[in-house]
Amino acid sequence: MAPSFLSFVSLYSIYLRRCFATSGLTAQSIDIDNETTIHLWAPKPDQTAQKQKPALVLLHGFGPSAIWQWRRQVQFFTPYFHVYVPDLVFFGNSTTKSKERSEVFQAVSIAKLMEKLQVKKYHVLGTSYGGFVAYNMAKMCPNKVEKVVIASSGVNMRKADNMALLKRANVVTIEEIMLPETATQLRTLTRLAVSKRLNMIPDFFWNDVVKQLYSENREEKMELLSGLTLVVGDDTVKLAPLQQDVLLVWGDEDQIFPLKMAYEIKELLGKKTRLEVIQNTSHVPQIENSAQFNNIVKNFLCGS
Ligand SMILES: *[C@@H]1O[C@H](CO)[C@@H](O)[C@H](O)[C@H]1NC(C)=O
Ligand SMILES: *[C@@H]1O[C@H](CO)[C@@H](O)[C@H](O)[C@H]1NC(C)=O
Ligand SMILES: *[C@@H]1O[C@H](CO)[C@@H](O)[C@H](O)[C@H]1NC(C)=O
Repeated sequence: MAPSFLSFVSLYSIYLRRCFATSGLTAQSIDIDNETTIHLWAPKPDQTAQKQKPALVLLHGFGPSAIWQWRRQVQFFTPYFHVYVPDLVFFGNSTTKSKERSEVFQAVSIAKLMEKLQVKKYHVLGTSYGGFVAYNMAKMCPNKVEKVVIASSGVNMRKADNMALLKRANVVTIEEIMLPETATQLRTLTRLAVSKRLNMIPDFFWNDVVKQLYSENREEKMELLSGLTLVVGDDTVKLAPLQQDVLLVWGDEDQIFPLKMAYEIKELLGKKTRLEVIQNTSHVPQIENSAQFNNIVKNFLCGS
């Protein structure tokens, strides 16, 4: 039992906002058309005017809003890049009146956002669900998207992979993993997604996280999960090669999208794709071993 005024989640989110602000980013909401509004953290206008730097878009995974997923990347990458960190539609404060729910719609929305921001060329880095979005942006806008990083993201997912994931988690539906409603379900998700064991963390903490970070837009998020065109597909993988240089980054112990999926994506995407595996991490190497993750990505983005 925790007194309600002592919410770790709300205190920590104040800390996260401060980290983003001291990295030179500012929060804003932009109407990308008459139906969709995207909330994002972007460089302050004086920063983009002052200094020429390449642009980098960070696309978060299924879970809490972007600030919860990218703190260590924002702090690391802002000296080298103009970093843009949107909340995907129905996460954080991004929303739409449109009925569309596919990852292609997410990709179109972020591409429109970058156009509104007048950023002509940019690299994309997507993790998990955000990797599906990154892939589609790269395919759709070969003239705008420069290099592509797909991290821990089974964009080649088949029905059989989905079934195997449900079995590993010992659940019936994917929502029970991706949209936890109870402390127990959240424990299952972290068991799969993080390689360190977190048994010591008490239920009141998990309950706080579920209530504050997973309860908003629940219905729409369920529609996003069933709208994943690559997942609802059958047993054939439709993954067209990309024109860009692609880096795949994976944790060797990933139990959401096992490492063997990364080897297959590398085959499917062809010669311009390389794979880096981070030992002793699972589905969130950007958090579990951020130093190594950041260096791998920086070397790829800054290399020729
Ligand atoms: C937005 O505009 C499009 C065409 O420009 C139209 O079809 C659609 O109904 C509009 N949506 C809303 C919510 O006004
Ligand atoms: C969304 O906006 C509301 C009010 O505009 C604000 O209170 C809330 O903190 C915002 N949520 C996020 C996740 O930014
Ligand atoms: C991974 O973990 C094992 C066992 O804990 C350890 O022996 C090994 O050195 C670790 N490898 C790396 C690259 O950290």
